[in-house]
Amino acid sequence: MKAIEIRNKYLKFFEKHGHKVIPSSPLIPENDPSVLFTTAGMQPLVPYLLGQKHPEGTRLTDYQKCVRTNDIDEVGDNRHLTFFEMLGNWSLGDYFKEESIQMSYDFLTTELGIPAEKIYVTCFAGDEDCPKDELTASCWEKAGISKDRIYFYGKEDNWWIAGEEGPCGPDTEMFYDTGKPKCSPDCQPSCDCGKYVEIWNNVFMEYYKKDGKYTKLIQKNVDTGLGLERMTMLLQGKETPFDTELFKGVMDKLKELAKVDDIASIRIVAEHMRSSMMIIADGGRPSNIDRGYILRRLIRRMTRHLNKLQIDLNELPNLLDLNIDILKEMYPELNEHRQEIKEVITTEKDKFMKTLNNGEREFNKVINRLKSQGINKIDGKTIFNLYETYGFPPEVTKDLATENGFSVDLSEVDKLFKEHQEKSRMGSDQKFKGGLAEQNDKTIAYHTATHLLNAALKKVVGENSHQRGSNITAERMRFDFNCDHKLTDEEKQKVEEIVNEWIKEDLPVTVETMKKEDALKSGAECMFIEKYPDEVTVYTIGNVSKELCGGPHVKHTGELGHFKIVKEEASSQGVRRIKAILEDK
Ligand code: ALA
Repeated sequence: MKAIEIRNKYLKFFEKHGHKVIPSSPLIPENDPSVLFTTAGMQPLVPYLLGQKHPEGTRLTDYQKCVRTNDIDEVGDNRHLTFFEMLGNWSLGDYFKEESIQMSYDFLTTELGIPAEKIYVTCFAGDEDCPKDELTASCWEKAGISKDRIYFYGKEDNWWIAGEEGPCGPDTEMFYDTGKPKCSPDCQPSCDCGKYVEIWNNVFMEYYKKDGKYTKLIQKNVDTGLGLERMTMLLQGKETPFDTELFKGVMDKLKELAKVDDIASIRIVAEHMRSSMMIIADGGRPSNIDRGYILRRLIRRMTRHLNKLQIDLNELPNLLDLNIDILKEMYPELNEHRQEIKEVITTEKDKFMKTLNNGEREFNKVINRLKSQGINKIDGKTIFNLYETYGFPPEVTKDLATENGFSVDLSEVDKLFKEHQEKSRMGSDQKFKGGLAEQNDKTIAYHTATHLLNAALKKVVGENSHQRGSNITAERMRFDFNCDHKLTDEEKQKVEEIVNEWIKEDLPVTVETMKKEDALKSGAECMFIEKYPDEVTVYTIGNVSKELCGGPHVKHTGELGHFKIVKEEASSQGVRRIKAILEDK
């Protein structure tokens, strides 16, 4: 059975049992800055688990796109994924244990055709916070699972909560017996030798945890999650998700292109490519903090392993096309954002290659120095310095160090890196030293915003309004322009509306090189024509702006966020000054 058939069967089955099918939420949580990505189907439903009425009723089902990155370093083995799809069904104060278990049993045995003897289940063993879940065990028995296939475990195995605070409860997990031999006489579902594979988790959410204490919610909920990739793999009798149709086409192509035989690298490329594409399709963009940094890491790691496999990086756009074609039936958004996905990933790859080439030379120097001193460990400070001075990412240093037989002190790196991120967040200068004067994403965005503001002012104040100066930091932009009056509130509002409209339109920003005269003839705006060389670069934004400029700029105006004027004042005779900010979308 193909993954898409399993998904469709699931949604249909629960629809038949009175559930409304709701759409997958985006990977980037709406209105929830506390988490980086959507990590479970229940996440967008938290308010409803706590008692708020859901417009679609008390029985819901969906497929949810998820990204979990805590195991990013494990990707490459036979099971870890950063992006996965979770099928789920929910009771919001509606049915509880009995009905939930009966439906799960019926779906597994009847719809998916899994023999009951291959299913093992686990239930909560009980502790001071919550009693032993005898009811769940008896529901399983009644459904058709014999007693000897029912196990009881404590909170570490059979209690589910997202993080430290929130709705939670005892759960019951279903395992598939692969038929492999037991690794020891003691081998049971909690063992991770691979004989038993967890396939579904039903959480009976009737508690709320805060400050380590549990209280009862006002309603009893059921929250379930079934990992689609894993189920597909098991039903197809495959050893890994990479052998299913979700990955196979790309894996085969990578094997064909690779000049080095390295299955872990091939899996990393295929997996990180899929994850990055999904994140970008949902609006994610690479940056140096938070979710943007995760995306950046995924693309960098993918690039590193393409290199390791000695695959020509010019193949990347073709590989992306192939991957999108394979997945577009399941995720039409990939096809809709095809160009953007290809542009973001190739641009990031190019940036990274520049950084790598510079940093790798330095890295080799460090390695040789340490070798000559008989040291086989790289300390955190050195790793961090490679990052700060050459933009060389710690995870790459770590990978290369390991490949060279060096160990690394990661705890110190993490600490230094966190401090650094904190500083960036606080807006300190992020520019890398040592000739790699890379502007940061914020200042680049502000730079593009000045072009939009310049064009919007022409519409509102008049064609004679020209830029007279500008100053950009990571926190704000300042823009001077000639104008003979203080802007009225209406004018300011109009300017904001126009700029935000252009941002919303996600206009492409393109660059071309041309002769200075030609640039002027084409109507491009510039500040001090005599300052420019004969050959100039011209940045064009949609059909709203054309300016002589050295760049850099964003690729699309949609990356800018929300434009807001915070101040308008006089700068000098006939010149006004606007201070503006870009707020996160
Ligand atoms: N929220 C539960 C999980 O992620 C179903 O396993």
